[in-house]
Amino acid sequence: MKILHSIAELRAWRAQHQAIAFVPTMGNLHAGHLALVTLAGQHAAQVLVSIFVNPLQFGVNEDYAHYPRSLAQDAELLSQHAATAIFAPSVEALFPTPQSYHIEPPELANQLCGQFRPGHFRGVATIVMKLFSLAQPNVAVFGKKDYQQLTILRGMAQDFALPINIIAAETMRAEDGLALSSRNRYLSADERLVAPYLYATLSQIKTRIEHGERNYAQLEQDARTLLNANNWRVDYVSIRDQFLNLATAESSRLVLLAAAHLGHTRLLDNIEISV
Ligand code: PAF
Repeated sequence: MKILHSIAELRAWRAQHQAIAFVPTMGNLHAGHLALVTLAGQHAAQVLVSIFVNPLQFGVNEDYAHYPRSLAQDAELLSQHAATAIFAPSVEALFPTPQSYHIEPPELANQLCGQFRPGHFRGVATIVMKLFSLAQPNVAVFGKKDYQQLTILRGMAQDFALPINIIAAETMRAEDGLALSSRNRYLSADERLVAPYLYATLSQIKTRIEHGERNYAQLEQDARTLLNANNWRVDYVSIRDQFLNLATAESSRLVLLAAAHLGHTRLLDNIEISV
């Protein structure tokens, strides 16, 4: 497995290979990321994983400075999976001059997480477009855990007619249901015990929809009430169709999304539902 730090090294590696599958990450890898890498390995013999904590996608009061960076440990994990190269540039290597051109995603980027993290998806779309431009992947894998990110990046690939097959990977969960996330390590031991309640709440709403309830506004409100009553600070609970338009009575493929804070940690989760 190669570790590439510069754009020149990446380009030289890329030139040696035909098809590659790509998994963009911010490092601090857990089993969820490794599942994306394994899935990528089913699509191409060469699997490139990028590890870059992207300053463009963090707001001023967010955790950019403290975001865990663990390249040596990540490389060790990746070497045991399908990865054949890691691209781990420094900020200076990727931005030799400040990034002054940006991808402006559509209105969806201002909803859900975007409402609470202004500019976040613009930063994600810009870095992913840059990484796509550098890596020229045939396939790119993203997790459904970040459903809105996946939707926006799919839209970007389609709108710019990028010749990249975007593959979605299922969310990996701990045994108690908590979706795996790098930010789970911010949870205290007590918070970790109650963290699965987010998924449990979404699961309850899912069951009610499957039993025929269709008052989505009420169901969203019920989920917010349950979470607030259990000491969560809810950003949103939203029932959408699987393109993230507001769900209507006609929508048959739904996704129930939530973001909520437990102490200082903001957790995200979602569940797809077919009705
Ligand atoms: O999902 C992530 O880890 C990041 O948003 C991504 C896609 C690597 C872009 O920085």
